[in-house]
Amino acid sequence: PVLVIDFGAQYAQLIARRVREAHVYSEVVPHTWTTEQILAKDPAAVILSGGPASVYADGAPAVDPDLFEAEVPVLGICYGFQAMAKALGGTVAQTGTREYGGTHVDIPDSGVLLTGSPAEQSVWMSHGDAVHEAPDGFRVLATSPGSPVAAFEDRDRRLFGMQWHPEVKHSPLGQHALENFLYRGAGLRPDWTPGNVIAEQVERIRAQVGDARVICGLSGGVDSAVAAALVQRAVGDQLTCVFVDHGLLRLGEPEQVERDFVAATGVNLKVVDARERFLDALAGVTDPEEKRKIIGREFIRVFEVAAREVVAESGAHGEEVRFLVQGTLYPDVVESGGGEGAANIKSHHNVGGLPDDLQFELVEPLRTLFKDEVRAVGLELGLPDAIVWRQPFPGPGLGIRVIGEVTAERLDVLRAADAIAREELTRAGLDRTVWQCPVVLLADVRSVGVQGDGRTYGHPVVLRPVTSEDAMTADWARVPYDVLSRISTRITNEVREINRVTLDVTSKPPGTIEWE
Ligand code: XMP
Repeated sequence: PVLVIDFGAQYAQLIARRVREAHVYSEVVPHTWTTEQILAKDPAAVILSGGPASVYADGAPAVDPDLFEAEVPVLGICYGFQAMAKALGGTVAQTGTREYGGTHVDIPDSGVLLTGSPAEQSVWMSHGDAVHEAPDGFRVLATSPGSPVAAFEDRDRRLFGMQWHPEVKHSPLGQHALENFLYRGAGLRPDWTPGNVIAEQVERIRAQVGDARVICGLSGGVDSAVAAALVQRAVGDQLTCVFVDHGLLRLGEPEQVERDFVAATGVNLKVVDARERFLDALAGVTDPEEKRKIIGREFIRVFEVAAREVVAESGAHGEEVRFLVQGTLYPDVVESGGGEGAANIKSHHNVGGLPDDLQFELVEPLRTLFKDEVRAVGLELGLPDAIVWRQPFPGPGLGIRVIGEVTAERLDVLRAADAIAREELTRAGLDRTVWQCPVVLLADVRSVGVQGDGRTYGHPVVLRPVTSEDAMTADWARVPYDVLSRISTRITNEVREINRVTLDVTSKPPGTIEWE
């Protein structure tokens, strides 16, 4: 892999993404790794990320000069560039000129790193210190008002560095420079593709699982679907997928899993109809956290029973299901401690909230992938667009979108309204612009309306369309008025119980995406 050494900036993951966009496999590792640990990974190249520290600050992370003797190509970026310069005997100092944001650099000598760059360009900088003198043997490629040495390289030793951030979109030629480093500087080939990812994972899964039985909880979401399809590709009938229909799904979702997913993969599917059980457990409950706990708990019980049934039905004597497939993604792994060691899964990343003490070994074929890469793998595996491009949907489903007690009738009303909103958003081509659009039923609120010649006394729904990068923050989506208007007209005409449609115009924070 290309190892991105994380010096504590928010940019390390982004750098890894950009390297992967260049079709070269990349991983993030912490700067606390020793040179020995780094070299043990047999890296094809190393990238030193930016970081918040000054190289002269107390306790500032340094780069071990031995790294540069290992004949591994290295690219230093921002802080990593300065730490590299310092480790190799260059000088780094405070200039008094801080450069933040768009900055002009002059490129008198493009070298290998900046091949194809114009002699002058705008780039994204964010630094206080600057490199004043390049180490011996380095050519200075670029300068800026605040950075006498803004980029350098020692082509023979395959060492490169730049002060600006090539990984951000505000450095228009940044990706080009990264690719120069990878292809020309380090001599790597762009051969990390979805097809290769699949081939590699299939081999790994086979090695891990042997001929044991495997189960996977399907949520209908993209991650569990792609993980299951990969495992199915690897071990075929040893896998059984369990899909729990808790009655809190949207219109057509159980059918979509049963029909489209099975058609695309040929997977063994066990559907458990647990609708009554969930409704009974939720009867009379209005508190959001209580609802979530009940739904999580019931899900586990149903899943465990189903897992035992899968074994019994398989006819295997005394055999047990040893492995559980989970759709854990790379950002979860990085956030929980750098990708080494035991899986540390946050509750909302578990399939439907499975507990840690579940007696299975985990199979996590997406552990190295970002969301968009998961989608690419899903498409390559032949999964339909409807699954691959599915918007996020919470595990507790419509149970947390009926505000008030959850009943079968209320779920039906919400399902009908939700289906209309989804249909119109899809028709308007907004599925990929809008991150998701919860429709929320205010089941205990009533308002007066007039329809035909009569008075109505119905319920409102709230449309909650949002845009987001990662659901951590969000903004309300500016859905065109005519689309909103069609949704409103159709819902009030077609769903008898609803006589008012409102729009939620709150960002996150302060509002969360879901109402409960
Ligand atoms: P909030 O409401 O916290 O939601 O802004 C952020 C994102 O997470 C989804 N969500 C969940 N997903 N289990 C899930 O799998 C849950 O319990 C859950 N709660 C919220 C929500 O739809 C949004 O995408």
